[in-house]
Amino acid sequence: SIVDPLLRTGYHFQPRKNWINDPNAPLYYKGWYHIFYQYNPKGAVWGNIVWGHSVSRDLINWVALKPALEPSIPSDRYGCWSGSATTMPDGTPAIMYTGVNRPDVDYQVQNVAYPRNTSDPLLREWVKPSHNPIIVPGGGVNATQFRDPTTAWRAAGGHWRLLIGSVSGSARGVAYVYRSRDFRRWTRARRPLHSAAATGMWECPDFYPVEAAGRREGLDTSVPGGGRPRVKYVLKNSLDLRRYDYYTVGAYDRRAERYVPDDPAGDERHLRYDYGNFYASKTFYDPAKRRRILWGWANESDTSADDVAKGWAGIQAIPRTVWLDPSGKQLLQWPIEEVEALRGRSVTLKGRVIKPGQHLEVTGLQTAQADVEVSFEVPSLAGAERLDDPALAGDAQRLCGARGAAVEGGVGPFGLWVLASADRRERTAVFFRVFRAAAAGSDSKPVVLMCSDPTKSSLNPNLYQPTFAGFVDTDISNGKISLRTLIDRSVVESFGAGGKTCILSRVYPSLAFGKNARLYVFNSGKADVKVSRLTAWEMRKPRMNGA
Ligand code: FRU
Repeated sequence: SIVDPLLRTGYHFQPRKNWINDPNAPLYYKGWYHIFYQYNPKGAVWGNIVWGHSVSRDLINWVALKPALEPSIPSDRYGCWSGSATTMPDGTPAIMYTGVNRPDVDYQVQNVAYPRNTSDPLLREWVKPSHNPIIVPGGGVNATQFRDPTTAWRAAGGHWRLLIGSVSGSARGVAYVYRSRDFRRWTRARRPLHSAAATGMWECPDFYPVEAAGRREGLDTSVPGGGRPRVKYVLKNSLDLRRYDYYTVGAYDRRAERYVPDDPAGDERHLRYDYGNFYASKTFYDPAKRRRILWGWANESDTSADDVAKGWAGIQAIPRTVWLDPSGKQLLQWPIEEVEALRGRSVTLKGRVIKPGQHLEVTGLQTAQADVEVSFEVPSLAGAERLDDPALAGDAQRLCGARGAAVEGGVGPFGLWVLASADRRERTAVFFRVFRAAAAGSDSKPVVLMCSDPTKSSLNPNLYQPTFAGFVDTDISNGKISLRTLIDRSVVESFGAGGKTCILSRVYPSLAFGKNARLYVFNSGKADVKVSRLTAWEMRKPRMNGA
């Protein structure tokens, strides 16, 4: 059954037991990384929300501390909801978070907390000053949907700005700007930073600068760069209506205090951090390695009764370094380099051609907990399918639903079957499929679709097994494309084309777990596919919160 402990993840972040959701206030302080998270200390379903707290030297090995924030004042009595950390000019962090002060959770305010002892690198104790709450809804703000303050940044004159997510009217998503001189008295700017019709409540907004021109180096949230041509901004919102994290790339007009997406249709174009199970994410700037790191929550997709039986629910995705793609049009994401320290025994294949309808097993290591990097090369794209149905052409998810892993194509589907049983009745397919664009002008690029198809991942019938998909904005005319997949018992977390398109799926095999989990490369297209190189590593288990 699903309760099998072999499905509990090995190297993805989770506490010893119980429910977790959003990552909160990731920060680096005096040599330690901190992650806080929405946590139910009493069970494996959402409720009784406090801030769980863990610390790490390397973002991989984690030590659990006692909760950092628990309901204790009138303005957070019914829950300490999501929030962010801001590093003050003297180097100490402050946490800003949403408090619920009514039992029906229909009134949300913002509180601040400071470390009791700044000489404690583990920041074990947090104090809530008596001037809380510091921001209350008012002036037409929807008090029932008003939450998740961002990291604050410094504007001219050292004044602070931060965002709070909300919805106005029936469905206009909004990120309100608040200003303060002293981090204590906050006033709302007349106009929001940004808003978009029909997107619903904007949960967990995130707003940060990135280096233009494809440099990997991250920028501090307070970088004095707004308006500098070499700095762009990213605005991310978690859309409660759709349950995905959407972002746009754009410019921050500091004078008007407005954000303008580069692509005027950006809000509708729906770029996502991840096209799978990944929500309520948050970035932070890591001054130790000068990079921006993204944390995101991956929920279970079994039943809530299964979660109660397991005694745990929810994980955090592997922290990802994020930076701007050289095109300037999207972000790239890659697992933090530290995860490679967990790599153990490996197997490498080179120059293996997979004929149409064939598959190849990668043997010689256990693959229930593994890291796989593969480079594919398609010698000819001539046989690529036409993408002539406009309804499918614009909708990766529907396209993959209609042309899944089992539907023979022209070029592809080709990719990996992971967490597969020996008879392959169970398998999760992560794959690409290449199409010729409908308007086949000489300049039209082939369209690359990436999918994660868990519909055959388990013989257990009571699971939510959605197929996830995104387009990959890459030039495949040379036939080359890469894939990296982190496999962790019930997690399949994939990075296509060097991190252009990412998809995380949760799966619960009934046969393909532990030593019975196998790994294959498959090709269900009509064209040959070459595996130029594939390396699979067994992954060790880090220290994970005492579990
Ligand atoms: C997102 C969210 C946040 C809220 C928190 C409560 O998953 O709904 O908007 O602060 O979770 O746990």
